[in-house]
Amino acid sequence: GAVAAAVPPTNLPRGCRWSSASALSVKERIDHKRKTALCGGGQHRIDAQHKKGKLTARERVELLLDPESFVESDMFVEHRCSDFGMEQDGNKFPGDSVVTGRGRINGRLVYVFSQDFTVFGGSLSGAHAQKICKIMDQAMMVGAPVIGLNDSGGARIQEGVESLAGYADIFLRNVMASGVVPQISLIMGPCAGGAVYSPALTDFTFMVKDTSYLFITGPDVVKSVTNEDVTQEELGGAKTHTTVSGVAHHAFEDDVEALLNVREFFNFLPLSNQDAAPIRECHDRSDRLVHSLDTIVPFETTKAYDMLDIVHATVDESDFFEIMPNYAKNIVVGFARMNGRTVGIVGNQPKVASGCLDINSSVKGARFVRFCDAFNIPIITFVDVPGFLPGTAQEYGGIIRHGAKLLYAFAEATVPKITVITRKGAVQIIFRGKENQAEAEAEYVEKFANPFPAALRGFVDDIIEPSTTRRRICRDLEVLASKKQLNPWKKHANIPL
Ligand code: HXC
Repeated sequence: GAVAAAVPPTNLPRGCRWSSASALSVKERIDHKRKTALCGGGQHRIDAQHKKGKLTARERVELLLDPESFVESDMFVEHRCSDFGMEQDGNKFPGDSVVTGRGRINGRLVYVFSQDFTVFGGSLSGAHAQKICKIMDQAMMVGAPVIGLNDSGGARIQEGVESLAGYADIFLRNVMASGVVPQISLIMGPCAGGAVYSPALTDFTFMVKDTSYLFITGPDVVKSVTNEDVTQEELGGAKTHTTVSGVAHHAFEDDVEALLNVREFFNFLPLSNQDAAPIRECHDRSDRLVHSLDTIVPFETTKAYDMLDIVHATVDESDFFEIMPNYAKNIVVGFARMNGRTVGIVGNQPKVASGCLDINSSVKGARFVRFCDAFNIPIITFVDVPGFLPGTAQEYGGIIRHGAKLLYAFAEATVPKITVITRKGAVQIIFRGKENQAEAEAEYVEKFANPFPAALRGFVDDIIEPSTTRRRICRDLEVLASKKQLNPWKKHANIPL
């Protein structure tokens, strides 16, 4: 808005500079700036944002956080660019193109940044980067998660290297925060070029269907370099990244559903690697017998069943937040609670590719296990696996290298680990085509494909009635709550990448 120039007031405090652009008192100027900041890039740009089915940066923050809990920082920060007419009135917006601060989700502290597409397309200026870095530093100092709401045209073109340097500052903080505080990215608009690497460095990336995309180079560049015709949505939309590439962990219908789900998700997580996950009051008895478990797993090793049925039946109130539900579906991973405490669930999925482990499921499982271990979340594993998937595609793709990640992750994890073997398979293969195949198989099953040989040798601790699974896991977790195990000191490990 226009503010008339006037003579300098005589009552300014010593050292206070007078801006000829304003005839208002300091308080009035603050109020004016504050109001302007709340309007982002102005009403017509807010309308344009709404027309696309998107909320504004501030509306998103409001929905994500508990009512009135948001404490904004750097609302008065403006960009510092004076090239290309950027210093002119009308090109400066208090707060610039990102809203930052802290707030609470169900009473628990969180830091948040929300890129404002209505201001220069949410593009990242030096000031914008600085604001993000500031809240990331604060989150690290006090030990609280960071949630980034991404909606940005990338580097602020007018600022050039200043903007690129800003990305470097953010990436460095993403890496330093990794394993210290949980980091969640919600992609709610464009995120392209090198900008994608901030979400990629965080623990979880969620996307909004139809309005968000992630890619290194857009469809036009792809066309000119590889001559491929591909739409923005096909190249980097939510469906692509949650079913094909594995870049994103969940896709939601719209902004509102995405933000409400992030709130739910947040409830599972500890604030930092120094804190335990919150314990939720549990109305589901820890000694509940689960009779359906007696019948879910078919006796025949060749018959499929849904591992999700076992997970839902076992955990508190059937509440399971699945991670990557549509990618590498032969493994199931996600968060649940047992007697109110957060646990990470890993399960082979016999319904998909007989639950075989392949490259994608190994990597999916490994990354999940490492998150749980970094943040003190016990891991419950439901095992029913015939083995690794055979074939040249897998071998040439490096199943040895990628499969090693899963082994590595489990082996280095020091959190409580409880494994439930639900069934075993793969007997037919060795005796296939042999004259006495049926007898050989029967002998093998008798010898090895039942729990006794493993139990006799102490490889499994107990053979339990399926219906007692929940009760047993809850009891074991209670004992394991005081587990202390340290791996040898090292600068950092060298997981096969
Ligand atoms: C400055 C930008 C901007 C940017 C958008 N705007 N992106 N201003 N720097 N990067 C401005 C537009 O000029 C426009 O202003 C307003 O924001 C809204 O943008 P529209 O184009 O009208 O919106 P839409 O049609 O929805 O298209 C969104 C878009 C497009 C696809 C993101 O704006 C776009 O292609 N932007 C440029 C993307 C880009 O090249 N970024 C740099 C990538 S390199 P006006 O006033 O005209 O309405 C990068 C390097 C990172 O990010 C490296 C890290 C190591």
